[in-house]
Amino acid sequence: MQMDPQELLSLCKRRGFLWPAYDIYGAVSGLYDYGPLGAALKNNIENQWRRLYVLQEGFYEISCPVVAPEPVFKASGHVDAFCDVYVECTSCGETYRADHLAAGMHPNPASLGEHELGKLLKANGVKCVECKGELTEPKRFNLMFKTSIGAGKGKTAYLRPETAQGMFVNFAQVYRYGRERLPFGAVQVGRAFRNEISPRQGLIRLREFSMMEAELFVHPEDKTWPGFRKVKDRAMPLVPSKGDPRTIRLDEAVKAKVIGNEVLAYYMWLTYKFALDIGLDPARLRFRQHEKTEMAHYASDCWDLEAETGYGWIELVGVADRGCYDVQAHIDHSGADLTAFERFDEPKEVEQDVVKPDFGELGPLFKGKAKKVAEALSRLSPESAKGKDKVMVEVDGEKVSVPAKCFEVSRRKEKVSGRKIVPHVIEPSYGVDRMMFALLDHAYSKKDDYVTLRLKPLVAPIKVGVFPLMPKDGLDEIAQGIYNDLTGAGFDSYLDDSGSIGRRYARMDEVGTPWCVTVDYDTKNDGTVTVRDRDTAEQTRIKKEKVPKAIEALVKGAGLSSLNTLR
Ligand code: GLY
Repeated sequence: MQMDPQELLSLCKRRGFLWPAYDIYGAVSGLYDYGPLGAALKNNIENQWRRLYVLQEGFYEISCPVVAPEPVFKASGHVDAFCDVYVECTSCGETYRADHLAAGMHPNPASLGEHELGKLLKANGVKCVECKGELTEPKRFNLMFKTSIGAGKGKTAYLRPETAQGMFVNFAQVYRYGRERLPFGAVQVGRAFRNEISPRQGLIRLREFSMMEAELFVHPEDKTWPGFRKVKDRAMPLVPSKGDPRTIRLDEAVKAKVIGNEVLAYYMWLTYKFALDIGLDPARLRFRQHEKTEMAHYASDCWDLEAETGYGWIELVGVADRGCYDVQAHIDHSGADLTAFERFDEPKEVEQDVVKPDFGELGPLFKGKAKKVAEALSRLSPESAKGKDKVMVEVDGEKVSVPAKCFEVSRRKEKVSGRKIVPHVIEPSYGVDRMMFALLDHAYSKKDDYVTLRLKPLVAPIKVGVFPLMPKDGLDEIAQGIYNDLTGAGFDSYLDDSGSIGRRYARMDEVGTPWCVTVDYDTKNDGTVTVRDRDTAEQTRIKKEKVPKAIEALVKGAGLSSLNTLR
């Protein structure tokens, strides 16, 4: 059901999913606090994602600082290219994203540059939405929050606009941790920051938000994937940048080059499966391929998993082929060796460039450390040293700058056991807050003003509501005991003893609680309680000691009728 996002946001505020941050000081758009239910829903989504990526797929989870010095984002291209285009009202000073103002005037305004956007807005006579004032020419605005590290002038730094760079700069460490084998993947779940120009759409555009990002490092010449065989006959709805939208099997999509390779297709499938697992409506999901002009500066191909919501189709996840862009950029800017080593079956005689340390120069300059600096130089990829006036190497955990006179890059015929390669990266990047919004939107159902959130038990913030019919006569103590048993067994539960039972059911239905357990006067006679199902309103009676076991069975997918044996 297509719904008014304001109605959903109002429920979220009222029931403790979400509050505008710093509300007592007038709030700041693009910043939200999660209340208890929102925080629990978010944790459940993130934990399910970890089950898939860390436990099932074997990615290594790491956790890096949210603030990083400027060279990181200079290398990644974000300082120069991570920009949106905005216009400002010359009368009231309101700012707007130029592509948002151009909605409906072009099939994909996000793919346009500032000059084209300026022409389009002018041709359509666009004025300030607030006061009808004249707008400035479009200008580029870097979306990163700038700060500095340390006192005085400090070091220029930025809050990370994606968690991904943490995985790239730590490539060598994680590669070593994984016993130096490709492919392998690293993930991070954490906050990222973008100084959005004019965020007006609740959770859709936040200035501080949560991401779940996976970076899969693969051999640059091998984008086949063993897991692909298991999923190749599954179908997904695709909107390719060329050709008609269609639901297509994965093997057909790869064969017809609609999706560039097996790895990309596999991780698109995993993303789609995750979306279904947490309860998004398959009828309102699709993968849309980016136009070449729309793609982020680092991507060579990108598909967005989009969900249809009250705001229209919104991007939830980007699955991008980042090629060797980032790793190569960090090699070039830092001089570090971020390559993988591909061992040949047999040693081969090859002619190749090698980095040759010059001990005559290294000795006087580095003294006792000269041998280690020489070893570090030999490990460098020739590409990262060729033509440089200095390179950075790491010796005993310290960065050391080595001038060009200390090494030579020369061509040699050598018997080698393998070669250094710069890995390619496939990146599924999930926006957690958007995923939550879409989930709430798809779960929302309203009949005669009665609202039910049909959240799957897997993600529902509260699994069980526990009610004593009356807060007296010992019913309250029995309910408290059941509540303790449930929480002790790991089920988030909510004890509610006030108001009519109907009203208490309604409160739980409105926040998506799948089951309610009620203690009544019969409980005192025969030791049974009722278990009520949110979606069918069916009820069954079971022994009160069996409640945690019953909930365990229900969470695993058993129906209410299967609880007969627990009577
Ligand atoms: N890492 C993907 C993004 O920044 O959107």
